[in-house]
Amino acid sequence: MSIDASAQTLRRVKTIPVHRVLPDFARDPVNALADIGGQVGGELVRLSLGPFRPYLVTHPEHVQQVLKGDWTNYQREGMFWRPLRRLLGASILGEGRPWESSRKALQPLFTTRYVASIADRLAETITARMDELDEYAGKGQPVNAAEEMAGIVNDAVVKVLFGDKISRADGERLAPAYHTAAGSITFRLLMPFMPYSVRVPGDRAFMKAVKTIDDVVFPVIRKARAEPGDGSDVISALCGLRGDDTEGAGDRQIRDDLVSVYGAASESTATTLTWLWPQLDAHPEVAARLYEEIDRVVGPGPVKPGHVAELRYTRMVLQELLRLYPAGWIFPRMAMRDGEVDGVRIKAGSQMLISPYATHRLERFWDRPLEFDPERFAPEEQPRRHKYAYFPFGGGPHQCLGQHLFYVEAPLLLGAILSRFRMRVRTEGPFIPAPAASLRPRKDIELDVVRVGHVTGGTR
Ligand code: HEM
Repeated sequence: MSIDASAQTLRRVKTIPVHRVLPDFARDPVNALADIGGQVGGELVRLSLGPFRPYLVTHPEHVQQVLKGDWTNYQREGMFWRPLRRLLGASILGEGRPWESSRKALQPLFTTRYVASIADRLAETITARMDELDEYAGKGQPVNAAEEMAGIVNDAVVKVLFGDKISRADGERLAPAYHTAAGSITFRLLMPFMPYSVRVPGDRAFMKAVKTIDDVVFPVIRKARAEPGDGSDVISALCGLRGDDTEGAGDRQIRDDLVSVYGAASESTATTLTWLWPQLDAHPEVAARLYEEIDRVVGPGPVKPGHVAELRYTRMVLQELLRLYPAGWIFPRMAMRDGEVDGVRIKAGSQMLISPYATHRLERFWDRPLEFDPERFAPEEQPRRHKYAYFPFGGGPHQCLGQHLFYVEAPLLLGAILSRFRMRVRTEGPFIPAPAASLRPRKDIELDVVRVGHVTGGTR
């Protein structure tokens, strides 16, 4: 570790030099970052990656300052956001006026009341997918965990966003296209200084995926404008709100918000649930409690929104899953002006890496941080911990809009699956995370689907 003398500091900042970071970084960048955060005990540290020298911010106090206290100075610019903008446009996942206007338009759509109003439809949509799983179970054919979770979540999210304004075939084109876009962007996320005039691996697949998404979404927007419905889906609400501008800009803004929310809602939920199966496989005692709760509350199904409040252990499992595998594993900010964090002068233009994956693994704030233990989230067990020691949904004014939707949708999905099936992991671990836009396992996880009545043994 060296001391950075070049930066104009109030106190000197530790810098991890490139030759020490790169080998680990190339092999497993997600865990390399977490390890560095752990080595410095949450202190602010600078990474020296050639021309790119971001700060790694892991201490909850500093995360809070960047995301909340000084949020106007630390914005979604540069690294990560710039490549993503080619997919998301100027939207709710941006900054400034477009973000403000999108947040105002979208926030009322994801309240507890709104989610309650669509929960029946969500439960029905999810339940409808279970026959497909039954077919796999009948044939003894394994499923790909990521694809299966994405398929089920996609149906649910498409229902929330587009209602009945999109055909099933078009809705199903979105998930693989978005998955490809989010996966093929890795090179640009890791090499943000690479100019767009230079073609890099993944570019072609990325642009093709964006075109597929546009080919699906623009016609649906035009149709929603021409035939306004009851407004209970997000596209109708957005068309109503942005109804004045029927020229290109209005459609573009609606497209950018829809694509951003679609991505934020579907990729994150699906990848989170993908990580569940290896954890249940490795922790039969957790699996047994989860099965017992779902058997008791949901029985043979179908799952209903009224079950969600009773699925308390299921919620704890999801909370712990989001601690170890926060789908938004990294979301950087760029300093717009000179600032100061942890006594270190931060120059305008500096990149600040915020990683819940790293903070959630700090021994200083978590007992046995690498262990999967849902009991940490038992309501009666909750120790007093810093609010930003756990922030899978971000914080400050950009805090996730979909947290409530997630805690309704994910228990419905687990209730639907586990009231009828058990998923047995076929693929040998370990499962290392890939550094895509959302945290996904590097290799495919294959699952055997077993009907509940056919399961023998103590954990049913
Ligand atoms: C496991 C599920 C989810 C996780 C882990 C997650 C995580 C996050 C995180 C970390 C942020 C903050 C990004 C930043 O500060 O730059 C965020 C923002 C956002 N999320 Fe989620 N999210 C999830 C599900 C959802 C769902 C279901 C929706 C559907 C509405 C959604 C919509 C959004 C939106 C619109 C934002 C941007 C908010 C803003 O900037 O004003 N998310 N999410």
